[in-house]
Amino acid sequence: MLEASSPAKAILFGEHAVIYGKPAIAIALDLRMSIRVRESSSTSVDGGYITMNRHRYVRWALENIWKGGPLEIKTRSDIPSASGLGSSAALCCSIVAAIQIMGGSFQRAECARQAFEVEYNVQGKASPTDTSCSAHGRPILVSFKEEENHLWSVSKGDRCWHVHHIDSEPLTLVVGFTGRPSVTHLQVEKVAGFYRRSGFAVETIDEMGDIVIDGLKALKAGDRVGLGELMNRNHSLLTIVGVNTPELQKLKEAADPTSYGSKITGAGGGGSIIALTDRPEKTAANIERRGGRPFIARFSERGTEARWLGGDP
Ligand code: MEV
Repeated sequence: MLEASSPAKAILFGEHAVIYGKPAIAIALDLRMSIRVRESSSTSVDGGYITMNRHRYVRWALENIWKGGPLEIKTRSDIPSASGLGSSAALCCSIVAAIQIMGGSFQRAECARQAFEVEYNVQGKASPTDTSCSAHGRPILVSFKEEENHLWSVSKGDRCWHVHHIDSEPLTLVVGFTGRPSVTHLQVEKVAGFYRRSGFAVETIDEMGDIVIDGLKALKAGDRVGLGELMNRNHSLLTIVGVNTPELQKLKEAADPTSYGSKITGAGGGGSIIALTDRPEKTAANIERRGGRPFIARFSERGTEARWLGGDP
């Protein structure tokens, strides 16, 4: 039997815009999802048969990457699903890592590449941001030119994404989960429709790209005030492209009095906000009081990990 685990991610700047040729910054968080896998007489996930609806990522990975026989898979997760925190990406990375270990050895950049293929094929439009952050850990920059601390690159159609680690001091975020699902492909399609129809949407996406560039400088300099202001601006732009909701806005307003800044993280339309704060307990209490589910999350150095175990699951 073997175990593979991967972290949650939060997008600090640039979600949606990263699909249109702009950079993005994501951070691995200290919430993890893990799977235990062993060979078996029939394939199962958490004791049930694999289904197209509930296990799309696992099914695609097994059908297209795994070359062996049936597997018993058990999952455990601290990451709420459809919360905007990358639970699907963490699952993709963990299943790919398990397959790699069974085939010989775990290779991190290849795990990021294959996990992106799984997400891309299951979701349709996707960038490698979530899967790369989960595979590699730490903060990452996804950009359209190769820069320092380069990890790997991938092309799809006319897009080429380059993934890099960013050196930054560890920061504390408070996540406020609305409890409503964020369905990535629906939000991505919604923004795509707006982008096709409106020059204003194109300008808004361009401005998100500028925020990421300023955000990178602020992150490297440990400038929390600057980061907070940029998070607030990025949130306003995400509102313009239509992925904010009354629940997300309520949690942002609950977090703001004790934070440097806050914003939607991930695809939006549900899911979570993140707040950058030095008073995480107070911010978490304010979010809870307004009906959200708070998590105090720290930057995590750890990306995907996989190892052989002995015994039963
Ligand atoms: C979702 O976490 C981030 C999006 O930009 C989609 C993607 O990059 O694949 C909305």
